[in-house]
Amino acid sequence: MKKLFAKKTLHDLTEESNHHHFKRVLGPFSLTAMGVGAVIGAGIFVLTGLAAREFAGPALILSFVLSGLACIFVALCYAEFASMVPLAGSAYTYSYAALGEVFAWIIGWDLILEYSLASSLVAVGWSHYFVNLIGTFGLHIPVWLTNDYWTLLHHSNGTITHVAPYLFGIPIVMNLPAALVIVVITALLVVGIKESARFNSIIVGVKLAVILLVIFIGWFYVKKENWGNSFSTFAPFGVGGIGTGAAYVFFAYIGFDAVSTTAQEARNPKRDVPIGIIVSLVLCTILYIAVTAILTGMVYYKEINVDAPLADAFARHGMVKVSFFISVGAVAGLTSVLLVLLLSQSRIFWAIARDGLLPECVFAAVHPRFGTPYLSTIIVGVGVAITAGCLPIEEIAKLVNIGTLLAFCLVSAAVIVLRIKDPHHPRAFKCPFVPVIPILGIIACVYMMIRLELFTWIRLFVWLAIGGVVYAAYGRRHSKLAKKHALMAKQNDTLAVRPEGLEV
Ligand code: ALA
Repeated sequence: MKKLFAKKTLHDLTEESNHHHFKRVLGPFSLTAMGVGAVIGAGIFVLTGLAAREFAGPALILSFVLSGLACIFVALCYAEFASMVPLAGSAYTYSYAALGEVFAWIIGWDLILEYSLASSLVAVGWSHYFVNLIGTFGLHIPVWLTNDYWTLLHHSNGTITHVAPYLFGIPIVMNLPAALVIVVITALLVVGIKESARFNSIIVGVKLAVILLVIFIGWFYVKKENWGNSFSTFAPFGVGGIGTGAAYVFFAYIGFDAVSTTAQEARNPKRDVPIGIIVSLVLCTILYIAVTAILTGMVYYKEINVDAPLADAFARHGMVKVSFFISVGAVAGLTSVLLVLLLSQSRIFWAIARDGLLPECVFAAVHPRFGTPYLSTIIVGVGVAITAGCLPIEEIAKLVNIGTLLAFCLVSAAVIVLRIKDPHHPRAFKCPFVPVIPILGIIACVYMMIRLELFTWIRLFVWLAIGGVVYAAYGRRHSKLAKKHALMAKQNDTLAVRPEGLEV
């Protein structure tokens, strides 16, 4: 039991952060761009449509407020940790110090849902927008190369013999653009973070321009009656609907914490990482609320398109060119989300492997010339490319959300624990009003988790159970901290025995 809850000391973590493993090249601008790059993506460009139509109606504006507030509370906690222990592992590392090894493992395992599974989902969304975009130039990819098997089966009324080729009786079906975009981004990440950050900043510029275009042009096409003229028409699904909407569009905020995973690549992590996290999140929250207000004002919520809601809203008003630019922005936007999420996942694996909970020679290997954790980047890339190309990933968006919400709860709790345990450790950034803000963060996250259905909870427990098996089979036996503690205990025993020996 003692082994399971063994904690790292803040002193050890500070020591670790003083050893450079990556190149320190990221400033506050790159870090903020990285936050915005990770955040604005499939959530606002795709999921808003379904959320407004099925869960919240025009009151989706309030869902974004609720979800955004929860994230701001949690972001303040992340910022405090990032300023105390600027290490690559993010939430995983923080909980190792505050809650102990087994919680750190749970979070690390949980973050695979946040980063890898979310990447697969975003890649599938990217592929849909990409296919649409090249379609406007008259280029078409066959359906068996743009869908996974189950989705194609669903769209083809249960038989695909007439739409897919067969090899030795096996149907050949895969979402090729989704897999390819992951391969390209993985290659970019292996080559270097500086180049990746520059590429990211350009893409983020395009994405922000498109979002601002939506807000400023869309404003002239808003019809106030679409927002409803009473609470029951504004929120046709009631207060519960606003909560469910928040739990669903929470996906749109995922990624702001990714900034903290690059702490070891920041030039001045104690100052710039909190700036990156908070500025990017506040900016995105404001933009989301504005975009949702415009969307639900331009189109009556029951008529909002679920595949490409923003592009469709402008096409309906005859603005085909604007609609085209929105699709370009979506493709660019989703690309930068993928870039940051994939980058973060390899950093988390790197941190876990450094602690011995995953094989170090694989997941912690840093490329001698590029200075990047290339093997773990490649492993993540291959895994995500396969899941994005072959699985009906849309199905599990809620699993991504519930996993991330759980990690957010643990990080908020960890801030309170460390304030009590280690109140004097220097904190370059302090979360205000502790414990009120972390507790509000936990309440908001738990509320959103409760709004997700039972099946999502079951999937979460299955995922955590698999993680438990991996930990029991490998991590527990190879944990460096456990080995260190065992060695210290042995030395103490030897010292304790010696006086008796001398007496004899
Ligand atoms: N927040 C990211 C998105 O919406 C994951 O795509």
